[in-house]
Amino acid sequence: MKRSVWLALAFSVASMAAAKQVMAQTKKDTSAMINELISKMTLEEKVHMIHASSSFTSGGVPRLGIPELVTSDGPHGVRPEHGRDWNLDNNSLDSGSYLPTGVCLAATWNPQLGYAYGSVLGSEAAFRGKNVILGPGINIIRSPLNGRNFEYQSEDPFLVSKMVVGYIKGVQDQGISACVKHYAANNQETKRFTINVQMSERALREIYLPGFKAAVQVAGVNTLMSSYNKFRGQWASQNNYLLNQILKKEWGFKGLVMSDWDAVHNTMEALWNGMDLEMGTDLHMLPNPDYSKFFLGDTVVALVKSGRFPEYLLDEKVRRILYVMYKTNMINGKPLKGEYNTKAHQQTAAKVAEEGIVLLKNQNNFLPLDRSKIKSIAVIGYNAERKQSMGGGSSQIRAFYEVTPLAGIRNMAGNIKVNYAQGYDIKRDGGANDAMIAEAVEAAKKSDVVIMVGGWTHGFRYDVWKDNAFDAEDIDKVDMQMPFGQNELLKAVMKANPKTVVVLMGGGAIDMTQWIDQAPAILQAWYAGMEGGNAMAKIIFGQINPSGKLPMSFPKKLEDHGSQKLGEYPGDTTHLSVHYMDDIYVGYRYYDTYKVEPQFAFGHGLSYTTFAYSNLRLTTSGKRATATFTIKNTGKTAGAETVQLYVHQDKSALPRPEKELKGFNKVSLNPGEEKTISIEMDEDAFRYFSDVTNQWVMEPGSFQVLLGSSSRDIRLSGKINL
Ligand code: BGC
Repeated sequence: MKRSVWLALAFSVASMAAAKQVMAQTKKDTSAMINELISKMTLEEKVHMIHASSSFTSGGVPRLGIPELVTSDGPHGVRPEHGRDWNLDNNSLDSGSYLPTGVCLAATWNPQLGYAYGSVLGSEAAFRGKNVILGPGINIIRSPLNGRNFEYQSEDPFLVSKMVVGYIKGVQDQGISACVKHYAANNQETKRFTINVQMSERALREIYLPGFKAAVQVAGVNTLMSSYNKFRGQWASQNNYLLNQILKKEWGFKGLVMSDWDAVHNTMEALWNGMDLEMGTDLHMLPNPDYSKFFLGDTVVALVKSGRFPEYLLDEKVRRILYVMYKTNMINGKPLKGEYNTKAHQQTAAKVAEEGIVLLKNQNNFLPLDRSKIKSIAVIGYNAERKQSMGGGSSQIRAFYEVTPLAGIRNMAGNIKVNYAQGYDIKRDGGANDAMIAEAVEAAKKSDVVIMVGGWTHGFRYDVWKDNAFDAEDIDKVDMQMPFGQNELLKAVMKANPKTVVVLMGGGAIDMTQWIDQAPAILQAWYAGMEGGNAMAKIIFGQINPSGKLPMSFPKKLEDHGSQKLGEYPGDTTHLSVHYMDDIYVGYRYYDTYKVEPQFAFGHGLSYTTFAYSNLRLTTSGKRATATFTIKNTGKTAGAETVQLYVHQDKSALPRPEKELKGFNKVSLNPGEEKTISIEMDEDAFRYFSDVTNQWVMEPGSFQVLLGSSSRDIRLSGKINL
């Protein structure tokens, strides 16, 4: 080796050692500083730090320079401010960027966009003086009826694990803590405050926990929120197994655990079982809540004084809170300032929408619409002009602006005449009356093409009385039927003008069986944020080539769904328990294994171009494998394809799903361009959790590696032996 190379190597080893020393020193300094602070605190001051001090803050110790911890919802934007009485404080400047909701982000299958998304949130949270953003929400989409699916990401634990990391790092690189939620098994809103969830250890480990584990171990999330429900008989907020054993001991989580709002039920259990910070606003205490009366308030002072709870365990909770404060420069440094409503933030919102909207059906290349050939368009549907940002519950955003679908279409339409008809009202029964249908039919008849924008609509749980609380917190959907009489409306419109593009908004699947065969084109547009209307219109008119893929399966009918067939959703709502009998067969794991045809498969999403897959080579090394293949854009338009890699084990001691997602890669290609791609599989790609031995097992044998454009459109496959 040349002398210069040696020197460079020696230098870099020395500087690495120096950096390590500095890091160890800083670490020591931080823990020494934390210990010193704790040693100066009175018992009352310590207890003051482990419970809320207002709706969204927890107590500080001004005497020692310890600030309050300021949190804010939520997963897709910084929430408007609340007054002390919990009502919205409509007097402050509290708007923010309204990003597409979690499910749309997941539909991009683009972890880099997750990072950009998190950066916007972190930056705006910093600007608004927050320390913690209460997101991402990553509960597994187990039932299509869950009211919060729009906030969550996927039915698949691997996709969640990949998307969550970018989001959290994006937030935390802005000096703000992310708060992954709701840990764990909060997969329905029906009886969310009281339901006791039972599931096998295997389902817990394979399906419901991997996203949280990745949040802790890969992303290094600073804070975690426990859920409302019980898990195996014990509240999740005071659950020894979930919080102490798994999260803190097994995964080594160093940050703080906060409760969901008012989710703590018992002081002793919360104290002993891993809860660090009790949050919430007791609505019964309004308008003058006394936070010292919280479970982790004055009672704790009395318990420590009487020797019934050791002070060193209280110190441990305070230590975790201080650790997060040091990590985010709340105590010894300068918190970052952040930015507000910048062009770059708007562009991120746009990009996520453009990559997240999914083209479900496109018969004979009906889309994109050619503007030079169209003189008039009928836009039909209340969702076309409804602003959705304030819907949903705690994730509401006062958006700087929100481009509705109608506005987006108008922005793109140029000289094309737009004939708008509302079509239906948001009332569950009879929302589309004869007069409204007649008006819509009229608009459809006199227009060259129709764009019907409908689907679910974003309600608020307090809208229950208005019958429009879909995709909202604290309430599940009652069924999968298009609400507000839209089936009748759509059928009438399509009869009047078969050239109808159907755009569906919402957190997930809707029953399309009544009209799907007649619809030439269908888009799944989710709640696509403040630029959603522009993104949707750009896709319809071909300025953007769609590349979103479904992060969950869409069943044909509710009865087909695994959580209904096997799963006992929503459980026994009288005795407040639900057994996840669908076990590991969630989403496509169910459809594929039980041979049920979904309407649209997990991972499905069309493009305006076509892709050819070829030349698969599989190599192995120990317990790892690599799939290398070529992908080519064989059409005339630039586009992106998310190649998905699934693994099937030929023979295993315990039954396994037909296939499981273990890798993916989103590839952008110009017309005619081809790329060679490699996807690595580590041991995790082949293991499963055995309930019998209570551990992850890797059984030697043969595995099929399947590569495709969706879970049901496999283009290449090969076998490996491990
Ligand atoms: C929700 C959480 C939210 C909290 C604070 C709860 O009702 O479940 O997701 O972060 O309220 O608004």
